[in-house]
Amino acid sequence: MVSAVRKTKWLGKSWMFFDVVESTQDVMRKWVLSGALHGAIVVADMQTCGRGRVGRSWFSPLGKNLYFTVALQLPHSHPPSGTLSLLVGVAVAEALQKFEAKVYVKWSNDVVSESGRKLAGILVESFEPEPKKVWSLVGVGINVNINEDEFPDELRTTATSLKAVCGRELDRFEVLAEVLCSLEFWWEKWASNEFDLFRQAYERLDWLKGKQVIVFLPDGTTVEGTAMGITDEGELMLTLPDGTRQRLVAGDVTVRTAGA
Ligand code: BTN
Repeated sequence: MVSAVRKTKWLGKSWMFFDVVESTQDVMRKWVLSGALHGAIVVADMQTCGRGRVGRSWFSPLGKNLYFTVALQLPHSHPPSGTLSLLVGVAVAEALQKFEAKVYVKWSNDVVSESGRKLAGILVESFEPEPKKVWSLVGVGINVNINEDEFPDELRTTATSLKAVCGRELDRFEVLAEVLCSLEFWWEKWASNEFDLFRQAYERLDWLKGKQVIVFLPDGTTVEGTAMGITDEGELMLTLPDGTRQRLVAGDVTVRTAGA
């Protein structure tokens, strides 16, 4: 673990490592309430109640993958909050590319392989433990050394790992070191409102751009269209079949296959 935080300037210098926790998000929340520093990180070798977005669980078996939460205190002025999880996606994707993996971001919170299988998920939970001090708990799960046939049935056709993409096992702490350096770099840009560089990086890594998609909205309805990138607020932009534009704040995106 020490090697994972050696290359950063400030992020992760204060850390906790656990063999097993329910969720690194919950451990970090308690730590922030009892005085964690900006940039502190909680890492676990396994989670018994790892959670994903919209009440889903996050598959977190022992010793195979990376599960961690970073606590970041938001500056008073910053880009729209909806862009933070996209920024983390860019940070993770750029870090994973260092291992010669072809990696992309998929709106809103996923990092995927070239074939669109999920390599990593991001969960940002924000709270205000005291007035005017907003913290974001940035939770990241990365499938590093798990084999595709070790995923539970419901993930077997949609998830993958760095090992499967790169064709070799990777040192999880080397991966973590790259991700933390990248996250530190991108956080500094975001926190100082330098948005253009992030937009360019997002466009370069955008797996959905130009694809025909179906978006499952939180209210149970769906929208179909062509993905056109993101807005400055971090919404997904779609061109609908009638040529009009629609901006979506949240939803699950599936790419339409030919004939579907
Ligand atoms: C998603 O894709 O739905 C987000 C998954 C986020 C998983 C990570 S693993 C570390 C941290 N602790 C959790 O319980 N969840 C996040």
